[in-house]
Amino acid sequence: MFGFFFSAGALLVVVGALGASMARRKSKEAWKTYKNVFDEYTLRNLFKLQAQGHFEELESPIAIGKESNVFTARTASGERVIVKIYRLETCDFLKMFQYLRSDPRFEGLRNQRRKTIFAWTKREFRNLMRAREVVRVPAPLVFRDNILVLELIGGSEPAPRVKDARPLDPEGFFVEVAKMMGALWRAGLVHGDLSEFNILNDAEVPVFIDFSQSTVVQDSLAPELLERDCRNVARFFAKLGVAVTVDSLREQVLASR
Ligand SMILES: Nc1ncnc2c1ncn2[C@@H]1O[C@H](COP(=O)(O)OP(=O)(O)OP(=O)(O)O)[C@@H](O)[C@H]1O
Ligand SMILES: [Mg+2]
Repeated sequence: MFGFFFSAGALLVVVGALGASMARRKSKEAWKTYKNVFDEYTLRNLFKLQAQGHFEELESPIAIGKESNVFTARTASGERVIVKIYRLETCDFLKMFQYLRSDPRFEGLRNQRRKTIFAWTKREFRNLMRAREVVRVPAPLVFRDNILVLELIGGSEPAPRVKDARPLDPEGFFVEVAKMMGALWRAGLVHGDLSEFNILNDAEVPVFIDFSQSTVVQDSLAPELLERDCRNVARFFAKLGVAVTVDSLREQVLASR
């Protein structure tokens, strides 16, 4: 783990050095330094996205998850975006495949590592496109194979997760979250990984993130995923003193159909 963080640090130095002001020819040398963190394919994709102007340089890694590394990145206009990179070599693509195979949008997908990870990334992008019509989520900006670029929620600094920034008015916040779950369901989507880890508290407004496990209500996994979301959300808000049960939440979400 320490080795990995160290490498991530090296990556930052190098990617930082690759900012727009750097001469292009330096990048070859730089590549070698952060090969430890990402495979060459991912590095090429990062460079392509950078060349297309989606961001200038990656900044700090804000999360290193089971399957992905999430960075903030600076754009030419001085804004910041989120870059989520699924690791091609060290992610559990068979687990991803299990979640994808019953999604009717990805019928016929083969369980090959890269194809699965690219489909996973594309699905998260598509889910966000659909979700943003009805609830607050990060705007999806672009995706390329295993890399997603998203709006950064929180202005200049990433907004904290509800887990770390408990709402000042738990009841009011919960009412919003429940409405959002209902709106998603009505729009034909279930989040599938909803909990205090994937809800941001953006100045007391809930924003749902991390839509990779999200699927359409026609998916045979949808009822099970909705159940899990209701369980996680009800447990968290009940702990904060809100009068909610799994049954009452599920009922409310389904009633909005
Ligand atoms: N658009 C965003 N704006 C602000 N912060 C974000 C945004 N997206 C992600 N984050 C931060 O990065 C963290 C990790 O992102 P996310 O939840 O999407 O991935 P993950 O849980 O690591 O996914 P996986 O387990 O699949 O690797 C979040 O908990 C949140 O703190
Ligand atoms: Mg998450």
